[in-house]
Formats: sequence, C-alpha cells, structure tokens
Amino acid sequence: MAEAKELITIAGIQVAPSILNADFADLRSAVEKVATADWLHLDIMDGHFVPNLSFGPAVAKALRGHSRLPFEAHLMVTNPEFYIELFREAGTARVLVHPESTVHLHRLVQMIKASGQEAGVALNPATPLNTIDLVLPELSIVLLMTVNPGFGGQKLIPGVLAKIRDLRQKIATAGLECRIGVDGGINRETAPEVIAAGADFLVVGTYLFENREDPAQVIADLKQLVTGK
Ligand code: DX5
Ligand code: ZN
Repeated sequence: MAEAKELITIAGIQVAPSILNADFADLRSAVEKVATADWLHLDIMDGHFVPNLSFGPAVAKALRGHSRLPFEAHLMVTNPEFYIELFREAGTARVLVHPESTVHLHRLVQMIKASGQEAGVALNPATPLNTIDLVLPELSIVLLMTVNPGFGGQKLIPGVLAKIRDLRQKIATAGLECRIGVDGGINRETAPEVIAAGADFLVVGTYLFENREDPAQVIADLKQLVTGK
C-alpha cells in the first residue's frame, strides 16, 4: 500500500481560503489577495446548525465577478436542500453538506449533482466515517472538520488525524478519486501533520487572513509541503 504522501503527490495539494475571518468590510480585496489558491471556501452558517450566522448566496454572487477561482459553499445550515439552487445561481461550482443536517443524505447528494455542481460531504469531528459509505462513490471530496464547526480561529482537534488516515485507506481500497479536505485550525504547524495523514485539500481561514502581508506566499508555502518543489 503506497504511503499516503505518495498518493497525494500525484494529485497535488489544493488550498481553499475560507473568508469567514477575512475583513467583511472589504471582502473584494480579500478574495483578490488569494487569487493563486485553488478554490474559494464559503462558510454558510444559519445560526441553527451552528451557533453563528455568516452570509448567504448574495455575498457569493457579489464576489463571483471578482475571482476566477471556483467557489464551494460549505453549508452549515438546517434544511440544506433549500440552498442548492440558490448557490448555483450565485455561481458556486460545489456544495458541501453535513449528514448531520439532513434526513436524506443520498437524495441531497443527488440533488447537488443534478444541479450541475460537484457534491462534497463534511463530517463533524465526532461523526463516524461509515456515515458516508453509501455516498462516497458520488463525492468529489470528503471534508473532515478538524474543529467543531461555527467559528474560525480554533485549534485543530488532534484526534481527527486518525480519521484522515482511515479515510485515505478507505478511498484507496475502493479505488476512488475522492479528495480528502480538512477544515479548521490549518496553519504552518498543522498542515504537514494532516498531509502526512493523507489530506490533500486544505481549507485555511485565519492563518491566511490574520494580518497576513502576502497570503499568496502562504498559499505557495502550503502547496510545497508535500511536493517539496
Ligand atoms: C468553521 C469553518 C472553517 C473556518 C476555517 O466552521 O468551516 O472553514 O472558517 O477555519 P480556520 O480559521 O481555523 O482556518
Ligand atoms: Zn468551512
């Protein structure tokens, strides 16, 4: 079985800035500063599924014209079914949903793909991997929450590293192409740990936007962590 790291080098590491902790008074500049990333990660929070309220499709739509990156909506909301079409119209290319937020996960994944978007599933730290067994072949990414969702700037929960390893094994055994994303507490220290465990998609918020002079350099540094180039 190839080392997790070898598997990743083929696909390469992708970085997806989360704007949740960017300057909400100037999101346009924030988005322009991270143009060298691979995706833009939009944290959609409704104050019910998580104890925080962020922004909706109107912000995605407003930012759409200021970035060439594909947008992904991370739906931390109750009734996620309601938002799939709204975000597609706003210009997102992928929707990540929580199994903890819906009764019919398989139908929700089908709905996302029928809208012409990629489907991803995000798992809270305590949600077991087998929750997604039946939909895994449908997904372009599984996002493992490395913090409890709702806020940026939290510390990575170390116990999730074993979950990343298990998921990498599961995907390799099934011969699937699905990416493994990690979300929350990713920085210069934790990025090598999650990559070594098998993650190849890094959502990075606070580490990128906390008074960073040059987020593009931070992105380049993170992407070199596995390729070593
Ligand atoms: C938390 C969100 C994360 C967060 C990024 O619920 O899903 O995307 O904004 O976290 P940090 O700031 O830790 O990178
Ligand atoms: Zn997120």
